[in-house]
Amino acid sequence: MTTYQDKGPKPEGGKFLSFDHIVFWVGNAKQAASHYCARFGFEPIAYKGLETGSRDYAAHVVKQNKIYFMFVSAYEPTEVELNSHIAKHGDGVKDVAFAVEDLDTIVKKAHERGAKIVRDIWEEKDEFGSVRMAIVQTFGDTTHTFVDRSNYTGVFLPGFRRTPTKDVLLRKLPPTKLDFVDHVVGNQPDMEMEDIAKWYEKTLMFHRFWSVDDSQLHTDYSALRSIVMTNWDETVKMPINEPAPGKKRSQIKEYVDYYGGAGVQHIALNTQDIISAVCIITAIHYHFYGNVRLVFIAMTRRRMAFYKQMFWSRADSLKSPS
Ligand SMILES: [Fe+2]
Repeated sequence: MTTYQDKGPKPEGGKFLSFDHIVFWVGNAKQAASHYCARFGFEPIAYKGLETGSRDYAAHVVKQNKIYFMFVSAYEPTEVELNSHIAKHGDGVKDVAFAVEDLDTIVKKAHERGAKIVRDIWEEKDEFGSVRMAIVQTFGDTTHTFVDRSNYTGVFLPGFRRTPTKDVLLRKLPPTKLDFVDHVVGNQPDMEMEDIAKWYEKTLMFHRFWSVDDSQLHTDYSALRSIVMTNWDETVKMPINEPAPGKKRSQIKEYVDYYGGAGVQHIALNTQDIISAVCIITAIHYHFYGNVRLVFIAMTRRRMAFYKQMFWSRADSLKSPS
């Protein structure tokens, strides 16, 4: 495991604040949104569809504390972009949106440094104010939307209507205590991790926060390499993974094979109370992979080892010259 002290040059302008929301392209947006509410304690907050004048797509937004997930489906079977994405990948994450300050500088710099601009800066307005956004291409078919919502007070984004929260089931569920998106992992095919990490350095001026190679992160059968990319203020973390040789197929290669290319493998959600969060989510019948008790023990050991290593590396750097 390597931790990095050098953030590189500070960006001259533009600031990434946090994850804004995650967009899933799915076969049935309402049903997918309902799953995250009933099984993970999210609350439906906003909707866009035929009733609001959106004739091509239905979008359902769910929220829990600072986490916003948007599920989108196309109405027409002849719609090409979203339907072909689902045909290739199945339901999956299409966009990871960042809340930003000084959108103009971020887009200008990204464009100058070679980022593909999927949609240049545009503005959406309604009675609650205006939001400015732009979209760039990242790994695989995935995109990043940059969102400047500093002049907006609405429930989600212009064009969305607040969802009436009349679901009697949801009102009976205890809070699951998930707070914010901690990190979003992008899995890459063999030997493509380094190029994607460099893309974040070059176009978004992110830096390397942490990395591991396959000698450090492996089981008896599966291995991977990972570089965690983050913004200057280290408020947004995007681990970039690739497979490494093992006795069996790496979990990263398995993901890439089944997803049909690079994509978002998992979204980590921060909680201040993991015991309660897992107990409540388990109680409402969500299946956790593996033995939850063993996972807790392994996590605690791993975290203690991480802090121990961090302590000694900081202590070494503070040694006075002899
Ligand atoms: Fe993770």
